[in-house]
Amino acid sequence: MSKFPEGFLWGGAIAANQAEGAYLEDGKGLSVSDILPVGKNRFDDLKLEVRDGVFYPSHEAIDFYHTYKEDIALLAEIGLKCFRTSIAWSRIFPNGDEQEPNEKGLAFYEDMFQTLKSYNIEPVITLSHFETPLHLVKAYGGWKNRKLISFFERYCEVVFNRYKGLVKYWMTFNEINHTHTLPLLGAGLHIGDVDEKEKLEDMYHASHHMFVASAKAVLIGHQVDNENQIGCMLSLSPVYPATCNPEDIFAANELRRRSLFYSDVQLRGEYPAYFNRIVEEHELNLTIPSEDLAVIKEGVCDYLGFSFYRSSLHEAGMKILGNTGGIIGKKNPYLQETPWGWPIDPLALRYVCNELTDRYQKPLFIVENGIGLHDKVVDGKIDDRDRMVYLKDHVEMMAEAIKDGCNIIGYTWWGPIDIVSAGTGEMEKRYGFIYVDKQNDGSGSMKRLKKESFHYYKKIIETNGASL
Ligand code: BG6
Repeated sequence: MSKFPEGFLWGGAIAANQAEGAYLEDGKGLSVSDILPVGKNRFDDLKLEVRDGVFYPSHEAIDFYHTYKEDIALLAEIGLKCFRTSIAWSRIFPNGDEQEPNEKGLAFYEDMFQTLKSYNIEPVITLSHFETPLHLVKAYGGWKNRKLISFFERYCEVVFNRYKGLVKYWMTFNEINHTHTLPLLGAGLHIGDVDEKEKLEDMYHASHHMFVASAKAVLIGHQVDNENQIGCMLSLSPVYPATCNPEDIFAANELRRRSLFYSDVQLRGEYPAYFNRIVEEHELNLTIPSEDLAVIKEGVCDYLGFSFYRSSLHEAGMKILGNTGGIIGKKNPYLQETPWGWPIDPLALRYVCNELTDRYQKPLFIVENGIGLHDKVVDGKIDDRDRMVYLKDHVEMMAEAIKDGCNIIGYTWWGPIDIVSAGTGEMEKRYGFIYVDKQNDGSGSMKRLKKESFHYYKKIIETNGASL
């Protein structure tokens, strides 16, 4: 018997910058992802320009811009009920601050969403997935400048109106709680030499402006179509205390709050009391106008979308400042790791769903979960057993969380077709049920090939989870 509610949104998720390529086609402008090279250190020494002789994976990616019809047809064979992708803001407003949108960009997404609908696949759309127009970072300093709020508002008005009736599920900022590490959010951080206090001030200003922008997006989206469901999106792999030492337990909770701070604001509509202490302890000088607080209060998100890949261990004394967990942390001796060193912890998915339900009592949407593996083609086949095991174990824990009373509306596997890794820019870090013949250096035929897991996920969806 199925453990999943009828209408459960089984799906897959990608992001424009990791799949589309065509980085300057049909009037698209550069986004912050277009200046990131391949490699673990891709965020170091960033220059806000495209340099000669450097390979940038987003420029071609898997060429989804030209292959989306065939790729969606393949994804439809799996039986996806929904498909999450993002709109590249710089396709619609190439520089971000124009008055008029780029029609070719709008037409591209319209056709893509219609293609999805023709297969009864519900589009789930992220408004900003590491795709802030680069010009907004160069000319305005990125999200630490409040002018970006009105640019984002204009972009939202355009896309909500244009895709009315085609798109119902939206998310505002992908992994907004990573504002501290990811210049990808266009926060303008880590660029230039600034001290820690200034970095924190920039981070919280950028976050605040995104909170206001997100709240305005919710208000506009509801006004355009009251059917619209607009979520926030966080990276919420959980943090465990490294030991039962109360110091570690307390420190882990402090770190967790650095992440939950974002959903606290976006789902409760106000800054939590503990934020005052962060401001005081770091002597931060922040400008948070009261009229913004009224907007945040009104524009509360409808659901919580989150990514889940792993858990991490935290110990008292480890530096936290703006960090929200995830990349940092100690090794967990109880868990195996992926080839990229990410601890595999399905039970943590049940744990985190319960944690979030207890805290918010809002619908949850697991919009990213998956495993990066080195897939090898042998005799024209790819046996990706480890991916199937990961999928099975996580879906089972999701079923348990539903039994626990969590209202989970859907699950979108990250990268159902191989795409460029956000963290390292590699193609080799493959998440897909569909293999794309493209390598880290950009070589390859780009041919698509079904992996074993393709059939496995299809069966899960077909039986609404009962085949597990
Ligand atoms: C999330 C992002 O952080 O994790 C995705 O929202 C990203 O864009 C995914 O691709 C997996 O990370 P990575 O580094 O393996 O691509």
